[in-house]
Amino acid sequence: MNAVLTDDEVDVLLTAAAHAPSMYNTQPWRFEVHGPVIDILADEERLLPIADPAGRGACIAIGAAAFNLRVAAAVLGHKSRLVVNPDPALPEVVARLFLDDRNTPVPELGKLYAEVSERHTYRGPLLDVPIPRPVQRHLDDAARREGAKLHWLGSTAMSQLAELQRQTDAADLVDEDRLHERLRWIGGDPSGDGIPADTLGPLPARPAFVRDLSLGLDTSHRDRVEYETHPAIAVLSTEDEDSAGWIGAGVALQRVLLVATSYDLTASFLNQVLERPADRARVRELIGGRSWPQMVLRVGYPAQPASHTSRLDWRSSFDQWF
Ligand SMILES: Cc1cc2nc3c(=O)[nH]c(=O)nc-3n(C[C@H](O)[C@H](O)[C@H](O)COP(=O)(O)O)c2cc1C
Repeated sequence: MNAVLTDDEVDVLLTAAAHAPSMYNTQPWRFEVHGPVIDILADEERLLPIADPAGRGACIAIGAAAFNLRVAAAVLGHKSRLVVNPDPALPEVVARLFLDDRNTPVPELGKLYAEVSERHTYRGPLLDVPIPRPVQRHLDDAARREGAKLHWLGSTAMSQLAELQRQTDAADLVDEDRLHERLRWIGGDPSGDGIPADTLGPLPARPAFVRDLSLGLDTSHRDRVEYETHPAIAVLSTEDEDSAGWIGAGVALQRVLLVATSYDLTASFLNQVLERPADRARVRELIGGRSWPQMVLRVGYPAQPASHTSRLDWRSSFDQWF
């Protein structure tokens, strides 16, 4: 126990943080608790030098974990303040959360707590049911509150995205370094990290707006099904393109995903079109050329049940200082 947080509270906070999404479920974070302050550090062993050479995806994951921390802190009665890159003398500390004293209810954030463990990436087919306008506005608002923007793609932009998706999938298939990097994380047994085969979703019977993360790996055991033809696709963008902007993107992403989960919506991602600079520049043009695309979301109501990925025990990457 330390001055402010009991062991049980640390458990609530860090379990919530670890539920955040991360590229290939690498969970590229470590936590340190110093009294009422929680530091999030990047875990150098869990970065993806080929698919994410600048660490943009890792920063987005850390931002999402930071938002989950804020939600869990709220449910415990702590207001909180997030500072990105808080100490130039400690560049390894990517984000720092300051918790206020206890007994200050924070209902606006705390009400999202139930969604933290409910949310998961769903890669199966979606029901042919549009997202109601007021719900879409809540998702837009969630992004805006965290300084980001959701751009919902119209049919012309969707066709251009589909073409880009075909090209990036074809390029990925012959990119041996990428395939090799993915082998470590994708399709294996559930062991606390990575993406087990049963969460990859079925294979689309014809081209669809869904990313097959097993591209180039063995798919013989997977079903083929029809996917919806017109999912809702939104690009999450930020004004800034630096580590602070990327962490902000992760914070906004997680707020959007938790609000979506509260309406029984699920999301998966088409981020293969953002992993190479030239492709990302084309997506930037698709959304007007003024802000930086950080995530491509496919959002809708799931047509099938889905399995969840597992998490490492946060204690394996944790330090507490009194
Ligand atoms: C920056 C980032 C990029 C991601 N890109 C993709 C993607 O392109 N396709 C996909 O299916 N999932 C993608 N994901 C989702 C992760 O695979 C997923 O969060 C992880 O496997 C953990 O599973 P969960 O979200 O169900 O908890 C991405 C997540 C993050 C944070």
